[in-house]
Amino acid sequence: MNIGIYGGSFDPVHKGHIALVRDALASGYVDCVIVVPSVRNNFKRYSMTLPAPYRYYMTKAVCDDLTESGKLEKVYVCDSEFGIKGISYTFMTLEIMTDPEFMTEFLLEQGVKKKKAEGPHEYYWIMGSDTLGTFETWYKPEEILRHATLLAAERPGDGVDVEKAAESVRENLGGKVETFRLNGVECSSHEILSSGDFSSVPDAAREFIARHELYTERTKLAGVSDAAKERFFEAAVWMYPYLGEKRLLHTLNVGYLSAELAVRFGADPDKALIAGALHDCAKELAEDSQKEMASEYSGDLFTEKKLLHAPAGAIFAHDGFGEKDKEILDAICYHTTGRGGMSSLEKIVYLADKIEPARQYMDLSPIRAAAQTDLDEAVRLTALAIKGKFDRQGRQTHPATVDMLRDLGIK
Ligand SMILES: [Fe+2]
Ligand SMILES: [Fe+2]
Repeated sequence: MNIGIYGGSFDPVHKGHIALVRDALASGYVDCVIVVPSVRNNFKRYSMTLPAPYRYYMTKAVCDDLTESGKLEKVYVCDSEFGIKGISYTFMTLEIMTDPEFMTEFLLEQGVKKKKAEGPHEYYWIMGSDTLGTFETWYKPEEILRHATLLAAERPGDGVDVEKAAESVRENLGGKVETFRLNGVECSSHEILSSGDFSSVPDAAREFIARHELYTERTKLAGVSDAAKERFFEAAVWMYPYLGEKRLLHTLNVGYLSAELAVRFGADPDKALIAGALHDCAKELAEDSQKEMASEYSGDLFTEKKLLHAPAGAIFAHDGFGEKDKEILDAICYHTTGRGGMSSLEKIVYLADKIEPARQYMDLSPIRAAAQTDLDEAVRLTALAIKGKFDRQGRQTHPATVDMLRDLGIK
């Protein structure tokens, strides 16, 4: 097969990206396009707005919608960059993806028939006309050309002489370059973010953005240090193999909301961001591992299956991610039950876990309203609602929760 690979930050994914994929397919050069959201890249290492999992799942939502609705066929999204340690350069992505075993397995997972999936394959690196002009300054361009032909979009009237740029790459680097005509919509992620006009973002991405309240004041992380932001982005990538889509995005949403609440209520936003983001990191580990880790952190305080992941999370965050801060680890440990004498940080993570934007298990508006002005009241309302649910189900209240309820004046 002739396989097109299209990398980018997709921050956010927009209709210009879709047009590029559509016209690359229509050009006849490629039989399918694999979209690869970047995890960290050289140029915008942490200036990307969102951690990689959001951009990956948002792009996937759009491509799934396009294929399911029959608007586009043979478009896949690949998470190959999550496996790269450090900055990912194009040649590294190509090295992984052109590995015959990797590609066959990936195509089989997408439902491609065995004979086709097994190849042999030719690879095309798809790019916009503007990026072809700077290609010779990329890191190891010869390596890229060893793996793939460049396939550059030519947009009439954009003032870029694609043929000239293509000729220059052919002459100076000896690689293969092809061009195709793009009848695309003119838009850029940068313009979308600076104008706040999301009309050129496909519906599926707009829904995704609304559900998680992304690209808002909250996700700008005002008050958070650059070092904590970097750690947050890294935590997101570290957790990717351990959690499914829903849980991973939930735990990251809790990070964002915790940082916002910390700024509002005078706690440490850096610690809140990391504690919130990591709070459910152990939730999908095997029960035996959770048990072992839980008893390592808190003895036999937590034995109920549903509660194990919280103390286990403290150990997993410590051993797996290298989080050493005791306040952060405690906030992770007590996020489900609460406890007596909770710190502001612990209250914030406890609360954010129950009310982050994607949570819909009950009418959360009174708690969300309280969380605008009064942390203790919001925690009290949350604890009351959970206690009510437990009482109705005849479930026993955990001793740590009993202590928290007493602090909150709830009987
Ligand atoms: Fe949890
Ligand atoms: Fe949670």
